[in-house]
Amino acid sequence: MATARRVRSAEWIAAAAEPSGFPPPREPEIALLGRSNVGKSSLLNRLVGRRGLARTSGTPGKTRLLHWYRVERGDDVFALVDLPGYGFAKVSKAERKVWQRLVEAYLDGRRALRVAVLLQDLRRDWSEDESLLLDWLAERRVPALVAVTKCDKEKPMRRALRERALRSAIGLPVERVIATSATSGLGIDDLWRAIEREL
Ligand code: GTP
Ligand code: MG
Repeated sequence: MATARRVRSAEWIAAAAEPSGFPPPREPEIALLGRSNVGKSSLLNRLVGRRGLARTSGTPGKTRLLHWYRVERGDDVFALVDLPGYGFAKVSKAERKVWQRLVEAYLDGRRALRVAVLLQDLRRDWSEDESLLLDWLAERRVPALVAVTKCDKEKPMRRALRERALRSAIGLPVERVIATSATSGLGIDDLWRAIEREL
C-alpha cells in the first residue's frame, strides 16, 4: 500500500509572473499558499521527496512567481502549485498589488484547482491575513487545508500547546489542520491523505 502511493516522478513544468502566462490546466491542481518564508517550497520538496526541486531560501520573498510541478503518485497525476508568499515587510505597496492580482487571478479562475493548502508557521500567531484567505476560499468553494509548518522547531510540550492554540484560532475541523515538518517529515503522510480526499 505504502509503496503503491509512492511519488513516482516530480518535475517542474511552468512558471508565470502574470495570469496570461498560466499554463493550460492539464491535471488537477493543489495550491500551496501562505506567508513568505512559512516553508511552502520546503514542504513541496518534502511532499515529493526531492530536496532541491523547488528553490528554498532563508531570505523571505524567494518565490515571486507561480511555479507548477507535475507529480505522479501511485496512479494519480496532478500538479502542485507553489504560490508566491505574502506579508513580506520589505515589499512595496505596488508589489503587494501585483501579488494580490496574481494570486487572486489564480485562486478565482483556475478550474483545475482542487484544494488549497494554507501554510501556517507553528511559532507565529494566526492572523487576519490567514483568516481572510480562508474566508475568501470558502466563499469560492475552494476546499482548504491548513499545514502547520516547522513543527520540529519546538520541543514536544511547547509544540502541543502551540498546536492547540492554533487549532482553536483556525476553527477548521480537526482533520483539516495538519502538523508538519519539512525537516523531520512529520505529518507528510497525513497531509497526503488529506489532499487525496479532495482529489
Ligand atoms: P517564499 O518563497 O519566500 O515565500 O518562502 P517559502 O514559504 O517557500 O519558504 P521556504 O520553503 O523557502 O523556507 C523558508 C526557510 O524556512 C528556509 O530557510 C527553510 O530551510 C526553512 N524551513 C522550511 N520548512 C522548515 C521546517 O519544517 N523546519 C525547519 N526547521 N525549517 C524549515
Ligand atoms: Mg518559496
